[in-house]
Amino acid sequence: MKKLLVAAALIALSGQAFANEDADVAKKVYNQAFGRGCGACHDVSPNPNLVKNINEGTLDEKKFAEVVKEGRGGMPKAIGAIMAVPAVQKAGLTEDQIIDVLYKYLKHKK
Ligand code: HEC
Repeated sequence: MKKLLVAAALIALSGQAFANEDADVAKKVYNQAFGRGCGACHDVSPNPNLVKNINEGTLDEKKFAEVVKEGRGGMPKAIGAIMAVPAVQKAGLTEDQIIDVLYKYLKHKK
């Protein structure tokens, strides 16, 4: 029983470490993609505020992934620039994984 509890605690802990690492990779993407980061445009109005739109429910993950992959209007196709961020390559994330991680990071970004 004790062994089981220790194993469960270890699994819980490693899950958390993984989540923190993911958030770190997402932060690097937000700050480094395209050389100047997503924030160079998205932290400036009138460009869409991604954090606000995600939390207000007007930008779901499907639409987020679509715009990141295809671009839209003044928004350049971004998936190539995202995959080129060294932290993404180091973490070995796929396109869909980094999009998911980035979406979750933005949802909780202050
Ligand atoms: C050169 C400036 C610029 C950069 C850099 C940029 N974006 Fe954008 N983005 C825009 C503009 C402008 C729009 C609005 C496009 C439109 O609807 O015409 C937009 C729209 C979006 C949308 C849709 C928002 C919504 O609420 O519908 C997403 C998602 C998005 N960008 C993600 C990103 C991510 C992720 C990055 C970094 C990898 C990034 N953008 C980098 C300019 C930029």
